[in-house]
Amino acid sequence: MSRPYRFAMIGTGFFAQNHLHAWAQMPEVELVATCDIDLNKATAAADQFGGRAYTDARELFENEELDFVDIATTPPTHRMMVELAAEFGVAAICQKPLAWEMDDARAMVDAMAAAQLPFMVHENFRFQSPMRKIKSIIDEGVIGTPFFGRMSFRTAHDVYSAQSWLVESERMIIVDVAVHLFDLARFFIGEPETIFTSALRVNPRIKGEDVATVLMHMPHATCIVDASYETKSDHNTYPQTFVTIEGTKGTITLGPDYHLQVVSGDTVIDEDLVIPDHGWTSVPWNAIQDSVVNVQRQWIASLDSGVVNECSGVETLGLLDITLGAYESLASGQVYKVGSSL
Ligand SMILES: NC(=O)c1ccc[n+]([C@@H]2O[C@H](COP(=O)([O-])OP(=O)(O)OC[C@H]3O[C@@H](n4cnc5c(N)ncnc54)[C@H](O)[C@@H]3O)[C@@H](O)[C@H]2O)c1
Repeated sequence: MSRPYRFAMIGTGFFAQNHLHAWAQMPEVELVATCDIDLNKATAAADQFGGRAYTDARELFENEELDFVDIATTPPTHRMMVELAAEFGVAAICQKPLAWEMDDARAMVDAMAAAQLPFMVHENFRFQSPMRKIKSIIDEGVIGTPFFGRMSFRTAHDVYSAQSWLVESERMIIVDVAVHLFDLARFFIGEPETIFTSALRVNPRIKGEDVATVLMHMPHATCIVDASYETKSDHNTYPQTFVTIEGTKGTITLGPDYHLQVVSGDTVIDEDLVIPDHGWTSVPWNAIQDSVVNVQRQWIASLDSGVVNECSGVETLGLLDITLGAYESLASGQVYKVGSSL
């Protein structure tokens, strides 16, 4: 690499702070600009991490020489930002969910493909180090062929104080968290053929669903995805994801505080996983913060090679189909046939 990749951070709100910290530890990139419709946020990010602050994305593209943009605005603006990137010939990595509608997502993927630009979705749960470990155990054949999975994220943590837009969002926990769990299910077990959703709104203060259970039917396996923001329990495990994968030879369980148990035949191995520390990361966010570092490293590798190997825009259309299909199943009370919107 002759010089660092020059990039801009678009959207400098809640989650973007993790992106900015992670980029700051990577010598392969240089932050040349920040952009947020809220000038205070754009300026605060630029003051702390570098670059010029903008409030208008088009103005940013017109004025800066960029190799890529990192988009962490709220979902309704993702399409506009990606299409601007395509127009100006700039590679892009964009936060999940890709879009609210499949037509928007497809337009984004098509625009980037037509401009022959790398395009990745920041789908980070699979990049948490415990999830990478589970995947390698499955791939080594330690538990045989998976036939059952459960991906579970249940908490009563007040997510609304840091992310006020979730209060008003008609679509809530499925696009906010279940999307990650669907991705884990595909990552560990494979593509579902059908899904069925049961979901509720428990908190009367919000507009969307805050409790959801989705049954995913794969050709040779079943997987339950369940997410809740209303689960009062005595052990605060936010923001941890619990995983169970049962296979023909054994079972993997990721439980509270990253306790991993692997049963393979007569052997049982218990381990308390240690989450890598990056100085700026802290409990309880550390596994997610570390996953941001891992996503961004993957993105740099994609820029180096010109090929997005994981979570490319086009690959993520399948994830969005499942995510939007979960709402279709909820509305119709019927099973959703995966791939119908593709
Ligand atoms: N992967 C994860 O673990 C994770 C966690 C939280 C949020 N997210 C995703 O990150 C994205 C942002 O969520 P958040 O909770 O940080 O929201 P946020 O509201 O805190 O931040 C979004 C920022 O985008 C800015 N913005 C909105 N429209 C804009 C525009 N047209 N131009 C420039 N800036 C604009 C807002 O002013 C705000 O500062 C969402 O897509 C969300 O799903 C991902």
